Amino acid sequence: MPNWLKNAVFYEIYPQTYYDSNGDGIGDLKGIEEKLDYVKSLGCNAIWLNPIYDSPFKDAGYDVRNYYLVAERYGTNEDAKHLFKTAHEKGIKILLDLVPGHTSDQNEWFIKSKDPKQNEYSGRYIWTDSVWEAPPQYKFVCGVTDRDGNYLVNFFSSQPALNYGFNNITHSAWQKSPADPDCTATVEAMKDVMRFWLDMGCDGFRVDMADSLVKNEDGEKPETCKIWRNIRNMLDKEYPEAAIISEWCNPKVSLGAGFHADFYLDHDDNGYRHLFREKNMKTGECTAIFSKNGKGDITKFLEEYLDDLNETKGKGYISFITCNHDTPRMTRMFTPLEAKIAYSFVFLMPGVPFLYYGDEIGMKYAEGLVSKEGGFSRTGTRTPMQWNNGINKGFSAAPPEKLYLPVDTGADAPTVEEQESDPDSILNTIKKVISVRHKYEDLQSDGDFEVIYAEKGKYPFIFKRGRFIIAVNPTDKEQSAPFEYSCDEPVFSIGEFCIKNNKIIMLPQSIKVMKIN
Ligand code: NOJ
Repeated sequence: MPNWLKNAVFYEIYPQTYYDSNGDGIGDLKGIEEKLDYVKSLGCNAIWLNPIYDSPFKDAGYDVRNYYLVAERYGTNEDAKHLFKTAHEKGIKILLDLVPGHTSDQNEWFIKSKDPKQNEYSGRYIWTDSVWEAPPQYKFVCGVTDRDGNYLVNFFSSQPALNYGFNNITHSAWQKSPADPDCTATVEAMKDVMRFWLDMGCDGFRVDMADSLVKNEDGEKPETCKIWRNIRNMLDKEYPEAAIISEWCNPKVSLGAGFHADFYLDHDDNGYRHLFREKNMKTGECTAIFSKNGKGDITKFLEEYLDDLNETKGKGYISFITCNHDTPRMTRMFTPLEAKIAYSFVFLMPGVPFLYYGDEIGMKYAEGLVSKEGGFSRTGTRTPMQWNNGINKGFSAAPPEKLYLPVDTGADAPTVEEQESDPDSILNTIKKVISVRHKYEDLQSDGDFEVIYAEKGKYPFIFKRGRFIIAVNPTDKEQSAPFEYSCDEPVFSIGEFCIKNNKIIMLPQSIKVMKIN
């Protein structure tokens, strides 16, 4: 386990819209480098960069054309190397985004694979053995190449799936076992991609769709796990300080397979959704635990989380996120104060937390945008960072019509500059909670988590992390609970509270972190 994960706080940067250093309307690596001091000022000591590789951008870069080249729009490989170096000088680690499951249909490997003449890449993707073969349970692109066969895709039709084989073989004419040399060659090719960027200075990878390499496997995905275990062994031997964090959302399986951390994502009916995003499907009313309306149920989250946490103890981390580039920002449903409390909670939990760029100032989800580069409903979460009230909110010097996506020009659009001077801003609150996390080991990745008060449909929610008690009342009503601890003044605090007669009374919309004395 890389030691630095014990106190890592990540910042996710969507490179297209973070900071445009050359005035062409799109963010770039030099722009990110210019903002490293800002990232540091947040207390974040690690960055996850969404894909920066050469790509036709049919899925915002998750369609890699060349794994070994930085996309022209972001700069050069030299810029990436320089960014890693400068980040390290400032004590910041950088994870790239590894997209192992599919490529762009413009990738050289795929162009060779399409060739009807047998070659080294013929088996790098998943092809049926004739265009007349397209079993409906699979997602194929049919009849568009000279090669006589249809190819399987992972996500959009421009993203052919790389061949890691099938667990349960239903069509033996074209489905291969994961042990087939074509499939093991794919694994080796992906290891080489990782080595290339690690040698250049990156610190590891967030791994896209990590659970879906081997096809036709359910449940614990044993064949996909074997591949990751093999890759982790390579890392342990060759790059022991490198971290891999999975988009899997099943830590019991992914951490067992060798990932150092796994994201807790917004999935149907899961604990993360109960915390921050649940809605009543009929009425549209928010029923999330962190909504101020108090309709949430903390036990629904804990049921899942405690089981995952206990089962994975010592094996790796669960990563709470404020949001990511695939999910509407919380401010779509929450007021700034609700979001402030919810975001603070993210940094008070065990594991390795992630802050999505712009959440630290409460950026909004932009409604009604035309889809950009395969973003669709995700486009509204990807708008330019709002630095100040200058041109394009300080994101870019380009004319507004040339921007990658429009900036929020609303009168109430938050900016970094304004929030820096307001002690109660979301920005200063996030900085404060992260600094408290850095100060006390009990509040970091490995710190314990013990429930003190959590009753079905009731508030507040109280838990203990080592010598600290954390009490949360996201609702707009006063809430109280039995309380038997004697505590110092809070080290972090939103709203008001008092403790008397073995009771804690939490005023509306409050959160407290207190050291037991
Ligand atoms: C998950 C990524 O987060 C998302 O943005 C992308 O579109 C899909 N995987 C496909 O790579």
